[in-house]
Amino acid sequence: MKKILTILAFLCISLVACGDKDDDTKPAENQGENQKDNPQNNDNPQNVENPENQNTEPNVANGKTLLVYYSYTGNVKSIANEFLKTVDADVLEVLPAQEGLKYEADNYAIGSALIKAIRDNPDKAESYPEIKSYKIDLEQYSNIVIATPLWWSNMAAPMQTFLFQEGNKLTNKNIMLIVSSASSGISSVIDDAKRLVNKKNLTGEALWINNSNRSEMSTLLTQWIENQKFASKMTQKLIITVSGESLEADFADNSSAKALAEALKQSPITYKADDYGGFEKVGDLGQSFPQNNEQISTSAGDIILYQGHNLCIYYGENSWNFTRIAKIPNISKEELLKFLGDGEFEVKLEVK
Ligand SMILES: Cc1cc2nc3c(=O)[nH]c(=O)nc-3n(C[C@H](O)[C@H](O)[C@H](O)COP(=O)(O)O)c2cc1C
Repeated sequence: MKKILTILAFLCISLVACGDKDDDTKPAENQGENQKDNPQNNDNPQNVENPENQNTEPNVANGKTLLVYYSYTGNVKSIANEFLKTVDADVLEVLPAQEGLKYEADNYAIGSALIKAIRDNPDKAESYPEIKSYKIDLEQYSNIVIATPLWWSNMAAPMQTFLFQEGNKLTNKNIMLIVSSASSGISSVIDDAKRLVNKKNLTGEALWINNSNRSEMSTLLTQWIENQKFASKMTQKLIITVSGESLEADFADNSSAKALAEALKQSPITYKADDYGGFEKVGDLGQSFPQNNEQISTSAGDIILYQGHNLCIYYGENSWNFTRIAKIPNISKEELLKFLGDGEFEVKLEVK
């Protein structure tokens, strides 16, 4: 019996497609033994540890993030969209050069052939299907999130092409993996990633979304994002109140703005401000915050931290090396001056 199962498994692993065209789970069914061989193919784990990376403590709060995704039937696209609600990231969608291919047609013949070609000759560029060209400067990113479907236990072929082309440019980066399958375990996709990028760069645990946990995708993704320690998007607003009138400002995305927002969550800050230089109203916050100084040319509505403890509300132009904290959107110099008034005044800062 065992022998028969092994032969059947071999036939299935050899990508002999056999089943309903429209069944999303079909290729998984064809790989029964392959899945048993897979030590990480537990019933329903969503985070799949990479044993060789367990000492790679994920912490990707610093540096820019790029989400690279490929999606054929839309599952990974939904995951990508959900990811972008929480994490500030640029996006690159990998697109096959040949449009309109039906990978699932003729019992998944095209998808199977693409994966087989890569399995047979993983080191040859010709084994990988062409993808559309893209413009991206990978240099600027510290964190790369790869979100991909699983095809026949492997990483979907177009995503393998991307990593085959770019893998050697991804050294010294945190590379994270999100995999969507119908049901198959993802250890071979992790192996593909290890083959295509420097495996030391694979960071943390891969997130596995499949048909049995897809309805909880949003929660699982939020947990995973938390575990990776991504800096989350600032959704709070800075509320500035002067003489009983309030304005709302959008926080900048840096550790200074986050530290001020944290402090304001504990209690509002009230400080005295006065005019300086005919372009700003400035006052001492009475406490210091981290600085992220950069050369900035101000315009009306910019809220700037100077020397770590002075908060400047700009209504005019100035150019200096200081820290962005927030921006009052769509406000003119005249409107802002009317709000701030003349002479010394009291400002109350809160978060909402
Ligand atoms: C060519 C092909 C092969 C697939 N092979 C498998 C498989 O072996 N095991 C599995 O569980 N799902 C398999 N699937 C299903 C996809 O992994 C799953 O539906 C995934 O969520 C699709 O992501 P997408 O909608 O972003 O394309 C396959 C799908 C295609 C198109």
